Amino acid sequence: MDPGDGIALTFCVIFILILIVTWLSRKSLMNFIVAVLSRQQERELEQHNEDIEIGTVTEEEKTKRVAGVFSSVAESYDKMNDLMSFGWHRVWKDQFVSGLSAGLVPTTPSSDLRLLDIAGGTGDIAFRLLRHAIDIHNHPSVHLTISDINPSMLAVGRSRSESLPISHQAALSFLVADATQLPASIPDNSVDLYTVAFGIRNFTDIPAALREAHRVLRPGGVFACLEFSAVQGNPILDALYKRWSFSAIPLIGQVVAGDRDSYQYLVESIERFPKQEEFRDMIVDAGFAVSGDGYENLTNGIAAIHKGIKPVV
Ligand SMILES: C[S@@+](CC[C@H](N)C(=O)[O-])C[C@H]1O[C@@H](n2cnc3c(N)ncnc32)[C@H](O)[C@@H]1O
Ligand SMILES: *[C@@H]1O[C@H](CO)[C@@H](O)[C@H](O)[C@H]1NC(C)=O
Ligand SMILES: *[C@@H]1O[C@H](CO)[C@@H](O)[C@H](O)[C@H]1NC(C)=O
Repeated sequence: MDPGDGIALTFCVIFILILIVTWLSRKSLMNFIVAVLSRQQERELEQHNEDIEIGTVTEEEKTKRVAGVFSSVAESYDKMNDLMSFGWHRVWKDQFVSGLSAGLVPTTPSSDLRLLDIAGGTGDIAFRLLRHAIDIHNHPSVHLTISDINPSMLAVGRSRSESLPISHQAALSFLVADATQLPASIPDNSVDLYTVAFGIRNFTDIPAALREAHRVLRPGGVFACLEFSAVQGNPILDALYKRWSFSAIPLIGQVVAGDRDSYQYLVESIERFPKQEEFRDMIVDAGFAVSGDGYENLTNGIAAIHKGIKPVV
């Protein structure tokens, strides 16, 4: 057997062990896959931005290329999400949005309904909200702002929104903004419903984002968050998985993608996000009132929905 075979064999064994351990720890596996996918999308978009910057294409060509790339990114985003979460992300998003009953009762005195979807990149949550508020609840005056810190992600949403009914498109606006520091164009006490799905985990300052949410919501307005959460598994397997993931995943990232740091970061961010009760307490600390447990587990706690209401003083 030559040395090359030995190395290959070692890698195979390591790979199979990782597969077994990750399989035994479903939540971590799911989180890891989603994190890797987000990272891949970001890369694709970054690469595309670079191409555009250094390219010598005409304006018209540029516009066409941008539209093409964004719709293909949006398509692959969907397919990957479906494949990797076995369709669960759709079920979670449906459950999240239908539980919000957007547009069911006219809210503010003017009866305008103001929705703000933060980290809304792809439009997945926003488009569902529009369907509920406009088609299901027949709200007469819906305004929805999709906001994201990444202009390329926002462009994906914009491109996808072009296939929506006109009435839905008319309700939409797009805003590049950092959730921890929303611009003056979103005034205090102006929003009826604030949503954030699979975004808050990556915010630099989560308490600051919660304070901003509280500031822009009107009294009685609702904060709603869908995010990966904690499954209480077998403690031995969890510990085993942790050891493996912290040493093996960055290594695989280095070998496969030539990028150790990003993968290192991914495992850490998955581990770092506060558990259900802890996150609920952060929402309360930001000034929101919660009812019951303040959250709802989805699929055994792989994900969770947290809600808070800004008290009417
Ligand atoms: C995984 S995507 C989620 C997209 C969408 N909500 C969904 O559920 O399909 C996370 C998004 O968060 C955005 N994001 C990250 N940090 C942010 C921040 N500080 N403020 C606003 N958006 C942010 C990213 O640009 C990205 O589009
Ligand atoms: C957010 O994600 C990006 C890319 O995955 C990473 O570079 C950045 O450090 C993350 N920020 C936080 C606060 O988690
Ligand atoms: C949610 O799931 C977590 C982890 O599995 C568990 O500890 C917690 O009790 C559950 N909470 C509710 C309200 O079901």
